[in-house]
Amino acid sequence: MVQPLLLVGAGGLAREVLAAVRSHPAPPWRVLGFLDDDPDRHGRVVDGVPVLGPVDAVHDHPDAAVVLCTASTRDQASRRRIEQRLGLPPERYGTVVHAGASVAAGTGIGPGSVLLAGVVVSAPQRIGRHVVAMPHVLVTHDDEIGDHVTMAGRVCLSGSVTVGEGAYLGAGALVREGLRVGAWSLVGMGSVVLGDVPDGEVWVGNPARRLRRTEVRLV
Ligand SMILES: CC(C)(COP(=O)(O)OP(=O)(O)OC[C@H]1O[C@@H](n2cnc3c(N)ncnc32)[C@H](O)[C@@H]1OP(=O)(O)O)[C@@H](O)C(=O)NCCC(=O)NCCS
Repeated sequence: MVQPLLLVGAGGLAREVLAAVRSHPAPPWRVLGFLDDDPDRHGRVVDGVPVLGPVDAVHDHPDAAVVLCTASTRDQASRRRIEQRLGLPPERYGTVVHAGASVAAGTGIGPGSVLLAGVVVSAPQRIGRHVVAMPHVLVTHDDEIGDHVTMAGRVCLSGSVTVGEGAYLGAGALVREGLRVGAWSLVGMGSVVLGDVPDGEVWVGNPARRLRRTEVRLV
């Protein structure tokens, strides 16, 4: 059965998720439209799909699956806040894996998570809900990816890395094996993480060092 699908957000990530749905020759979803709280976007057509209205319009489409397509280093908790605000049951959320991703059989991917083109998950493991893995992220054996984590393009996790809830790993960041990247932390692009990153801190550079605390709006 082909289910209707709503993409929450109408920016770059939402367009990438649309492309991931379209990468399948026979997608399980028909994308109804984007929902975005920016009124300037309402009525526009993006990549052939209309921006139907504000985010709360998900409630007008009870049969539609939903994917939260927001991600920003300036607002790491946006998907968590939208999830809380909408109060939808987990089964309303779609899990989108690009046809060009390679995910080990037996991997558990939580509701609402998105794996874009070229993502590799090389051994079965658990990936949380509302996780975003951008193109060419590499997740190896025994990693644990918490809920609401964002991994930008080409992030590479060595084995047995734990990524806490809501952490954001910038493009191309590398994490050495066995480490923990703390909840709601932020790792700068191109950083090389050689030690545990505490919760709620920004770490940058090679080797990565503390820059400041993160500013995360959870509610
Ligand atoms: C980490 C980050 C959020 C810091 O942003 P910021 O708080 O605005 O920091 P600033 O740009 O003011 O830089 C502060 C200092 O950190 C350094 N710095 C910032 N990002 C760095 C990085 N990724 N690696 C090394 N040093 C970095 C700056 O050079 C500056 O150093 P200085 O004080 O000696 O001049 C940002 O640089 C970053 O890496 N964002 C991730 C981008 C990304 O991956 N986007 C993916 C989109 S798909």
